[in-house]
Amino acid sequence: MVNLIDGKATAATIKAEIKAEVEAIVASGGKRPHLAAILVGHDGGSETYVKNKVLACEACGFESTLLRFEDDITEQKLLDEVEKLNANPSVDGFIVQLPLPKHIDEQKVIEAIDPRKDVDGFHPVNVGRMAIGLPAFISATPKGILELLRRYNIPTSGKKCVILGRSNIVGKPMSQLMMQKNGGDATVTVCHSHSPQLKDECREADIIIAAIGRPAFVTADMVKPGAVIIDVGTTRVPDPTRKSGYRLSGDVDFENVAPLCSAITPVPGGVGPMTICMLMQNTLQAARQS
Ligand code: GUN
Repeated sequence: MVNLIDGKATAATIKAEIKAEVEAIVASGGKRPHLAAILVGHDGGSETYVKNKVLACEACGFESTLLRFEDDITEQKLLDEVEKLNANPSVDGFIVQLPLPKHIDEQKVIEAIDPRKDVDGFHPVNVGRMAIGLPAFISATPKGILELLRRYNIPTSGKKCVILGRSNIVGKPMSQLMMQKNGGDATVTVCHSHSPQLKDECREADIIIAAIGRPAFVTADMVKPGAVIIDVGTTRVPDPTRKSGYRLSGDVDFENVAPLCSAITPVPGGVGPMTICMLMQNTLQAARQS
């Protein structure tokens, strides 16, 4: 019987846990955690993500600040705004929503963020610390996936895990965390667009984590019976039957793959809700440390 991994319900449980901890902090005279977000321009996906982050702050009892700028903001002005948040003692952590307009160097902006406030875990100091197993802010999507696997008691130690995709935000940190002794403790293979044996690797995997952004890429013939499938894909595909005009499509052909698996995350309602929830956990961690 396939076990549907309910990220939405798990995220709701974790947000309630965070809220209880926040209220205890406030009751004992502490300050509410405060997350700030910088949003540049009007990208539909980014608008939705940031709106959901602000709503999650409310659910967790956090203070939140949204700073909006038009997409003609100069790189220097954005760097100045980052500097102001670095220096603002009321703000425990902040994020700069990506992607940024082409004329702005994203890496430069990420590296301008104080690593102690980098709750996205994108700064090289946090990426490096995470990679060698030191305490760090861990980027929210891979952290949320580990948390889902733990809360569903899915064994990972010694398992063969195939990760599809090598992005800085998901594939790379996921591979580090899944291989670490205090993380997944798994044998990890990372496949990408130039991996000729990708399908064969998948067929041998106990766990597949798909993060390549190609709708229904993982098909039933690539999945070993009993495998665990984690779908990170959130591609918007046009759908005239929806009010929004689109629907979210995962990287997995869910309908045909699900019957084969021991556990699988749906899209939406799987990894997505966990990602924002882990950003809240990181913000709480920042507040505790400041
Ligand atoms: N764009 C897509 N995902 C993310 C994320 O996790 N953080 C930020 N800052 N931007 C994103």
